[in-house]
Amino acid sequence: MTGIVVRELQATDEQRMLALREEVADGGQVRFATRHHVPYLQAVRSLHPDSTCVVAQTPEGRVVGAAWVRFGRWIRSGADADYGLLHSLAVHPDFRRRGIARAMTDWRLDLVDRRRAELGREVTAVATIQRGNTASLANARRWATWIGGELTVRPVPMRRVRPRARAGWQVRPATEDDLDVIAGRLAQRYQDFAMAPAAGRTWLSGWLVQRVATVVGLNTYLVVTDRSGRLLAGLGVVDEPRLSDLRVVAMPPAMKVAARSLGLVRSGGIMRNLPAVLAWHRPDSLAAANHLWQSARWSYRRHGTALVTTTDVRDPITAMTAAPGWLPSTSITLAIRTNRELDDGGLLAVPH
Ligand SMILES: CC(C)(COP(=O)(O)OP(=O)(O)OC[C@H]1O[C@@H](n2cnc3c(N)ncnc32)[C@H](O)[C@@H]1OP(=O)(O)O)[C@@H](O)C(=O)NCCC(=O)NCCS
Repeated sequence: MTGIVVRELQATDEQRMLALREEVADGGQVRFATRHHVPYLQAVRSLHPDSTCVVAQTPEGRVVGAAWVRFGRWIRSGADADYGLLHSLAVHPDFRRRGIARAMTDWRLDLVDRRRAELGREVTAVATIQRGNTASLANARRWATWIGGELTVRPVPMRRVRPRARAGWQVRPATEDDLDVIAGRLAQRYQDFAMAPAAGRTWLSGWLVQRVATVVGLNTYLVVTDRSGRLLAGLGVVDEPRLSDLRVVAMPPAMKVAARSLGLVRSGGIMRNLPAVLAWHRPDSLAAANHLWQSARWSYRRHGTALVTTTDVRDPITAMTAAPGWLPSTSITLAIRTNRELDDGGLLAVPH
């Protein structure tokens, strides 16, 4: 760490921070870097304004490390709570094992502590770690009070064939009038989770109109209704490839063959994933929920290569996608720092 300074990102660092982001791949079993199509800081300011970036700089002025923390609200064991999500930790390969990641993480944890002091209530620090990321896991072991859970991250290829129309079911984008029902259903779904996104009516309403510069219509919430117009299931889709895509640098050989043949990874290792989020269905409407999922895979076929779900392996919502187990997938685990007792057996979902 000699001579390396860790400090908050300034506007003049943007290009150097971005170059680092595009160069340093995640160290998990699927090694990928992010390529941005819109100015990254503008995207962060629009989508996650309560975010801060820390960088590590050499005496020569080179940016060799960067990491982010973003604050938000989520549900912990049925109650609203605050989190600080530590993400996008990257250190240039030539500068590793010198304590730079450790210093940037301490800097971010200080920020979480300060936020806790300002608010006068618990702010949980949380990070996600991909399977196989030894360095990141070792880093998290230093600060986390709990590391666990297994969430499958599964890109499901788009459909090439239109799903059969089903009499009585209509798939359509949700409108403002639907949001109370959707928020109620999501609250019900997440009430037994140890951690879950907070998606109340006001939040959903804001999410539907999120934009980054000229990129509008980024987020859509799809619902399926019955003949009487009753909502049977819902699913959010983020048109992320309009903002960024992933460049896969390495993945296990068998996974690579499968991912290529399914069209999940295109030439140059490019993956264009659309996150599928905030899914729910009425207990008696699994078939309608599956129809909604298949319809989404068809209607977004020109937007990217896959719809990607991130779900706790124990979460019954996986029945909605009925994705075959042989589809390539990876998994993430959660690292948490909290001074409140954790509901160890509860289901997990990542915050927004
Ligand atoms: C993860 C990463 C940021 C670590 O950066 P770093 O500056 O080398 O980490 P540090 O030097 O601060 O390491 C702190 C401790 O973590 C552990 N650690 C770091 N890298 C490790 C590795 N490759 N294997 C095992 N332990 C490791 C060690 O205990 C280390 O302390 P030590 O060097 O005294 O033994 C870096 O490897 C990286 O950029 N990886 C690619 C991007 C990535 O995967 N980011 C995480 C996304 S969740």
